Amino acid sequence: MAFPTETVYGLGADASNAQAVARVFEVKGRPPGHPLIVHLPSAAALDEWAQSIPEAAQVLARAFWPGPLTLLLDRRADRVPDEVTGGGESVGLRVPAHPLALDLLAAFGGGIAAPSANRFGRVSPTTAAHVRSDLGGDVDLVLDGGACDVGVESTIVDFTNGAAEVVRSGGVTFEALERVLGRSVGVWLGDREVNAPGTLATHYAPRASVVVVERAADVSRAAAAALREGSTVVVLAPDAIDGLPRGAVQLEPAGDDRSYAQVLYDRLREADRRRADLVLAVPPSDRDIGRAVRDRLHRAAAATE
Ligand code: TXA
Ligand code: MG
Repeated sequence: MAFPTETVYGLGADASNAQAVARVFEVKGRPPGHPLIVHLPSAAALDEWAQSIPEAAQVLARAFWPGPLTLLLDRRADRVPDEVTGGGESVGLRVPAHPLALDLLAAFGGGIAAPSANRFGRVSPTTAAHVRSDLGGDVDLVLDGGACDVGVESTIVDFTNGAAEVVRSGGVTFEALERVLGRSVGVWLGDREVNAPGTLATHYAPRASVVVVERAADVSRAAAAALREGSTVVVLAPDAIDGLPRGAVQLEPAGDDRSYAQVLYDRLREADRRRADLVLAVPPSDRDIGRAVRDRLHRAAAATE
C-alpha cells in the first residue's frame, strides 16, 4: 500500500512481516540489501525497535517527531527482521508528520517499513498520481493525501558510529539540528555509500540529463549551446528567466527555497513528460531546505555524467 508522508509518498508494508517487506522490494524493483526506514506511530515506540539509544538521538526524536527526520540506530534484532535492515545491525526509524500517515500508523499499531513509492532509481513521488504513474497496478492501494508539504525526503542522522552524522540532507535542516543539539553535526561527504546504499548518485534523477547552472545569467548561453547540438532543453529555476533562446522552455518557476523543495520532483517528472534531453537547473540557496534541494540536483547531475 502507498501512503502520503510530509516528505514523499511511501510504499508500506508491515515491518515485522518479512514476506510483506519482500513484496515491497519486488514492486519497487529495488535490489535486496537496501535497508528500509521503519515508520512509527510515535516516539514512544522507539525503544521497541532500537537499543542503546544515545541521549542525543532521544533529544532529536523529541524535538523533530513527528517530522522529516530519520534516525539510524542499533536495531533490536528480536523486532526488526533482516529484510528491513538489509542484513545489517542498524535500523532507520521515523515518525512522519502527515495526518493520514499518523492515522494509518495508529490504526495499525506496529511499524511500517516504507521506501519512497517510486520504481528503484527514479525520482520520488510527491502526489498520489506520481505513485500511480510509477507503480501502476502493482500497488493495490494508494492513500491520497494531496501534494507533500516538504517535497524532499527526510534528513537521515546516523548514530551507529557514536556521534550524530548526517548521511542525507532533507526536510530537517542542518541549522535546526545544530540548534537543538547545541553543537555542530558531522556531514557525510560521499565516501560511505556502502552504509546507505540509497544515497548513490544515480538516485533522485529523471531520465533527462541534469546540468546545474549556478547563475541564472548563464542559463541562456548554456541553453543556446545545447539547442545547437539538437537537444530538447527545459529550464528549472527559482524565478522567471528573460531572454531564453527560442526552443528552450522554462518550467513554472520554483519560487523560494521551501516552494522549490515542494515542486522539485514534480518539475523533474514534467521534464520527462516533455521528453526533454536536458534540464538546466538553477539551484536555490545553500541554506536551510535549499541545501537538500541542491543535494538532489547535484545527485541528478552526477547521474548524468
Ligand atoms: O522521507 C523519507 O525518508 C521517505 C518517506 C517515505 O519516509 N522514505 C525514503 O525511503 O526516502 P527510501 O528507502 O527511498 O530512502 C531511505 C534511505 C535509503 O538510502 C536507505 O539506504 C537508507 O535510507 N537507509 C534506511 N535504513 C538504513 C539503515 N539502517 N542503514 C543505512 N541506511 C539506511
Ligand atoms: Mg527513495
